[in-house]
Amino acid sequence: MSGSADASGPLLLEARDLALSYGPTVALRGVSLGVARGEIVALVGPSGSGKSSLLHCLAGLVVPDSGNVFLDGTEVSRLSDDDRTRLRRDRFGFVLQFGHLVPDLTLAENVSLPLLLRGRSRVRALREAHALLDELGVAESAARCPGEVSGGQQQRAAVARALVAGPEVVFADEPTGALDTANGDVVMSLLTERSRERGITVVVVTHDHSRLAAVDRVIRLVDGATAAAA
Ligand SMILES: Nc1ncnc2c1ncn2[C@@H]1O[C@H](COP(=O)(O)OP(=O)(O)OP(=O)(O)O)[C@@H](O)[C@H]1O
Ligand SMILES: [Mg+2]
Repeated sequence: MSGSADASGPLLLEARDLALSYGPTVALRGVSLGVARGEIVALVGPSGSGKSSLLHCLAGLVVPDSGNVFLDGTEVSRLSDDDRTRLRRDRFGFVLQFGHLVPDLTLAENVSLPLLLRGRSRVRALREAHALLDELGVAESAARCPGEVSGGQQQRAAVARALVAGPEVVFADEPTGALDTANGDVVMSLLTERSRERGITVVVVTHDHSRLAAVDRVIRLVDGATAAAA
């Protein structure tokens, strides 16, 4: 595991000199980094250091004030809103701290959503969702809604939803943040192992240093800038 801001191989995802402020608050002050295809990279740093801001810029959810984000050579920050939405839908998967599952849908229906958005039939999407929930150990909860299952089961479903449509990159912002240690470890290993098996690139924000064993590289942020990894 290295602590450099740049990957050693060809880059899938690249940020050049990103700057972002919220009014007077500077969130990112010139961040550059590269992520190779298939690499699993963790973003760490103190609260307020800009981890979520950086993840949102890399994922095309937020356009930086200046600087550029490239995915496979395409400048994400220059795409129209519609094109960025399509990019997120077709090529990215997301896992957030509190699952953000749709409360009125079952876990299986939640997991099938990215497939439906990509045009899969409902029957096929549900079949694929069930298969992945089974693989992630939550088959017995597939027909329940998020409010009827544990936090760990919700986060496994959130991992399934992020992976189900075969994205190129998964962006995860503290995917284990709301879980106890045992459940957090399970969710982090499911996310990293299943992504590695499928060759999916992962950018994961985590506060917890015990979760860094499975990642290839750690990028540390301090006060909106990259710092040498601890
Ligand atoms: N929507 C917002 N409006 C105003 N300021 C914001 C907003 N989002 C983030 N900030 C500020 O930008 C800076 C970076 O925030 P960011 O959320 O990226 O940090 P973080 O490293 O993800 O922190 P945490 O570990 O607490 O999630 C902080 O000073 C934060 O207060
Ligand atoms: Mg954050």
